[in-house]
Amino acid sequence: MSQPWPRTAGWGDGWLTSVGGVDVDELAANYGTPLYVLDRSELLARMREYRRAFGPDVSVVYAAKALCVVGVLQLVAGEGLGVDVASDGELLTAERAGFPMQRVVFHGNNKSRNELRRAAQLGVGTIVADSLDELERIAAVAAEERRQLAVMLRITPGVAASTHTFIATGHDDAKFGFSLWRGAATQGIERALALPGVHLTGLHCHIGSQVTATDDFVMAAKAMCRLLGEVRDRHGVELDELNLGGGLGIAYSADDRTPAITAYADRLLTTVRDELAARNLATPRLAFEPGRSIVGPAGLTLYRVGTGKQVAGLRRWVSVDGGMSDNLRPALYGACYQVAPAGRPRPGGTAEFSVAGKHCETGDVATDVDLPDDLGDGDLLAVAATGAYGYAMSSNYNRLPRPAMVLAGDGSARVLVHRETLDDVLSHDVALG
Ligand code: LLP
Repeated sequence: MSQPWPRTAGWGDGWLTSVGGVDVDELAANYGTPLYVLDRSELLARMREYRRAFGPDVSVVYAAKALCVVGVLQLVAGEGLGVDVASDGELLTAERAGFPMQRVVFHGNNKSRNELRRAAQLGVGTIVADSLDELERIAAVAAEERRQLAVMLRITPGVAASTHTFIATGHDDAKFGFSLWRGAATQGIERALALPGVHLTGLHCHIGSQVTATDDFVMAAKAMCRLLGEVRDRHGVELDELNLGGGLGIAYSADDRTPAITAYADRLLTTVRDELAARNLATPRLAFEPGRSIVGPAGLTLYRVGTGKQVAGLRRWVSVDGGMSDNLRPALYGACYQVAPAGRPRPGGTAEFSVAGKHCETGDVATDVDLPDDLGDGDLLAVAATGAYGYAMSSNYNRLPRPAMVLAGDGSARVLVHRETLDDVLSHDVALG
């Protein structure tokens, strides 16, 4: 089996036997379940693929929201990528990882004064302004801190990306950025050019996430190049940077067809080059912000099966020891994942199951999964491609402690995140006197 599993995954008769050269039974025994497992070589390979595909003149900025933990950001920094952070917490994680602050891009549609102050004090490379209100806020912080701040404007290019509506961000009335619609972007650019303390370095857009139609990205890139031309014509300024965001989709099942990183990069680089040449514009420094397509396929989750039941004539159930608290995506977006039996292979036939999480919701489920027909108590299941937006969106629903996360590679595993304890979960509660 290959996609959507890490390339180094070991298989025997359809059972996942190892990840990164580490036996899955051993992983589960040593670290417990549920367990997030990141395959080190898959993660590194994806970062390298991005850097190779875009070449040395383009910045690849990892979108930390997909998975923001210190060890991962250390690897990202080591590979020479930048990092996109969208909160104080993500910024602090980058700082703890020793990330060079010049390579940090700070996003968000409501960055607080304190967040902006911290960004200014740490010397964050770029702040992306999302609205006129934010521009004023950034200028006020620049004045307070007596610094010039490098600012990009997030533009909403009017592209309704083909993806789940919750994660489409490029349409005119989206909550993010300055729309091209009715001149909001032009107004923002004028204000940014005039504001003291603000140095407008360029423009940014991000049309959405889990987008698999390259045409959507091409449309946005064209709109952004058009806008760069308008800025030059109107203000006599050629902006230095163009950041086209992230959003490239990944395969969650073996049937999903997604563009390869190289094909996506080639198409966008060609589009931008042609669009700029047609307007006689110098090429600005380009940047892209992939999150999911770097970390998603490098991760999987191991669960242990507990109970099972047969609803006569209708459905066979097995329940696992995690669920929507460690992976909200099926419940939130109706996302489907590939599930495989894990551990030492056993001979035998298969049957169709529904796999239930242990939460008190009917939506906490994966359906129609072919698994060994004798699957039962104590068996391991692996869920593919959970590296992005799994741990990142985890919760303590039903007061479940968050799972541990390990990095597996070259035959050994290292803890990236300790398993939460029940004491951790209860630690902020205050009993009434
Ligand atoms: N840049 C910006 C400004 C973003 O807002 C995002 C994602 C990215 C880059 C990275 O996008 P990616 O390459 O990871 O698709 N929770 C949702 C995804 C939300 C994405 C939010 N922004 C999910 O689980 O599908």
